[in-house]
Amino acid sequence: MENPKIALVTGAGKRLGRAIAEGLARDGYVMALHYNASSAGAKSLADAIRAEGGRADCIRQDLSEPGTAGDLISRASAALGGPVSVLVNSASAFDTDNLETLSERSWHFLMNVNAAAPAFLMQAFARQTPYPAEGSIINMLDTQMTSASPDRFSYFCSKYALDGAMRLAAYELGSRGTTVNAIAPGLILPSDQSQEDFDRRQALTPRGPGLGPADVVGAVRYFLEARHVTGHTLVVDGGQRLMGFGNAIS
Ligand SMILES: NC(=O)c1ccc[n+]([C@@H]2O[C@H](COP(=O)([O-])OP(=O)(O)OC[C@H]3O[C@@H](n4cnc5c(N)ncnc54)[C@H](OP(=O)(O)O)[C@@H]3O)[C@@H](O)[C@H]2O)c1
Repeated sequence: MENPKIALVTGAGKRLGRAIAEGLARDGYVMALHYNASSAGAKSLADAIRAEGGRADCIRQDLSEPGTAGDLISRASAALGGPVSVLVNSASAFDTDNLETLSERSWHFLMNVNAAAPAFLMQAFARQTPYPAEGSIINMLDTQMTSASPDRFSYFCSKYALDGAMRLAAYELGSRGTTVNAIAPGLILPSDQSQEDFDRRQALTPRGPGLGPADVVGAVRYFLEARHVTGHTLVVDGGQRLMGFGNAIS
């Protein structure tokens, strides 16, 4: 019997990770839904996928704990019965600091969740036996990496590290039939600002209002289809990056 097409999405209990997992389930993937605190969100998504006739399993892991991320691949494989062929590293922590306030805690926490965990997940993906015939790994960056946002020092350093890991992994895994890419979202969902402030900022981007999770899901589908696009970052930001110094839209 053929192996099922298994996709693992980290941070699938809510927001963008959830939207990506919903999209992949709709496309027929058997879903491994990773979560940490959002147990209710992950479980309700698994129930919804099963109600539609799909298959899904939830896996909890705190990705700030060093040495644990890679196990998610073998746990997903064992639960769902085959190698993971799609890995979406969406989980991410977001914190405010700058060079002045930078602490060992904020640096290591954000590096562990946002850079080390995706890197070790990519390593575990690469070590799978059997190895998926057509693998895809997608990492999540941030459009604001192209300008300096001094109040997110550790966060952006972790995303720069992830950008490097993505490109190095793409180089290493290309000959094995696996593509490794990234999506750099812009103002998709509000984080620490009000909805009103978010809407005002989104309206200032060249493309204007309306950018949302469906645009990110579309980018994921593009990477899964385009078998010779690798080491690439697709910016999904309504043109925000074109605003140069105004990129941060304050
Ligand atoms: N939303 C945007 O507009 C936007 C803009 C730029 C970049 N991005 C990037 O796109 C990705 C998804 O964005 P988002 O807004 O959906 O992210 P988010 O809400 O900030 O976080 C996504 C997930 O990360 C998980 N997470 C956080 N700390 C964790 C930990 N210690 N261990 C395990 N999981 C942890 C959370 O899981 P639990 O809830 O289960 O704990 C959460 O579901 C992120 O990589 C983000 O940097 C998003």
